[in-house]
Amino acid sequence: MNFDEIVERKIAHSRKWCKYPNKDIIPLWIADMDFKAAPEIVNDLQSILDHQIYGYNDFNKVVVQNLVKYVDRKLSWITSHADYMFLPGMVAGINVACRALTNEGDAILTATPIYPPFMSSVKLASRKLVKLPLEIVDGHYSWNFTKLEELLSDTALKIKLILLCNPHNPVGRVWNKDELENIAALAKKYNVYICSDEIHYGLVLDKNKKHIPIASLNDDSKMRTLTLMAQSKTFNLAGLDCAYMIAANPEIRAKLAKITTGLFFSPNIFGLSATNTAITKCDDWHDELIAYLNNNLTEIIKYVSQWQDIEMIRQEATYLAWLDCRKFASKHNINNIHKWFEENGVGLGDGSDFDADGFVRINFATQRAVLIEALQRMKDAINQVQ
Ligand SMILES: Cc1ncc(COP(=O)(O)O)c(C=O)c1O
Repeated sequence: MNFDEIVERKIAHSRKWCKYPNKDIIPLWIADMDFKAAPEIVNDLQSILDHQIYGYNDFNKVVVQNLVKYVDRKLSWITSHADYMFLPGMVAGINVACRALTNEGDAILTATPIYPPFMSSVKLASRKLVKLPLEIVDGHYSWNFTKLEELLSDTALKIKLILLCNPHNPVGRVWNKDELENIAALAKKYNVYICSDEIHYGLVLDKNKKHIPIASLNDDSKMRTLTLMAQSKTFNLAGLDCAYMIAANPEIRAKLAKITTGLFFSPNIFGLSATNTAITKCDDWHDELIAYLNNNLTEIIKYVSQWQDIEMIRQEATYLAWLDCRKFASKHNINNIHKWFEENGVGLGDGSDFDADGFVRINFATQRAVLIEALQRMKDAINQVQ
């Protein structure tokens, strides 16, 4: 696969590339990739297109069988066919989880900074949002378990659900076994559900890290967790609207079904097919992607390490680099760092959307040449004020 191939995306109405019409701004914001899908996926989609009949289908049954095998093969996680329900997308799953697993007046906890729908879905469900800020300990973003316990034990707060992001967007941590066990143990102690968004599970970049689904830890976590997954992030299929949830607990499934039955249908044949091909035929493409992303990340670190007052911790997963520009912005009286980079030709993710003013997020799933041009623009802008 030639990940260096430049692909014109504006003609295909790309949200990422159409954000700045008629402006010379390199868009490195929303989390999709500038790479073509694996040829195997394209071929299988082409066969469906060529069939020329797009009627109802039961392909979801085949895909679930293959997903059961895939999560076992990749994550050593044993699941059952009955545990799976398809979703039109992960965000739909987060919103449904908030509504199905809590009642009005309850609170939902999440660790910040966080992918924005973790916060908006709580508000949309009219629940209370409780934020637990991640802390940097020994050079890593970490959960503060003492504070987590304080919050969960506060009966006035009525926290009934933890929204977990693993691997975490935007800080890029792959939560390790100890951390997950701590979260699971506290969830058990205070009897709260866990909704674990694991969309980035195929994007572990650090060879020494392994993604562990929190539901796979033990019988208790298995029964209190709703896991949300998709192939969309890893294989660049987000526009095909296919995600899935896995819940071993029939009570959780019944609560979800109460909301989704009659509203959510099995995803369309294209989304199902792309997901199926990704999990059955694309291991080599996936390996090449991870190598390419790792090289891009190394490039970013080369640049950022030269920039005074801008800090970044090499992430373990995702193609999203998380930069702390607070010191830099305050030193140079820059009010809005995101806007400032835009004015200097680079469109990044805005930290304030993630509950982190002064941070920006670089989506580095792009061609190396595009990334380097963007980094060079950032460097030039920084050098001008330093
Ligand atoms: C953690 C996380 N969850 C969900 C999504 C979006 O998923 P979907 O497009 O399937 O709703 C993203 C996209 O970046 C994400 O980072």
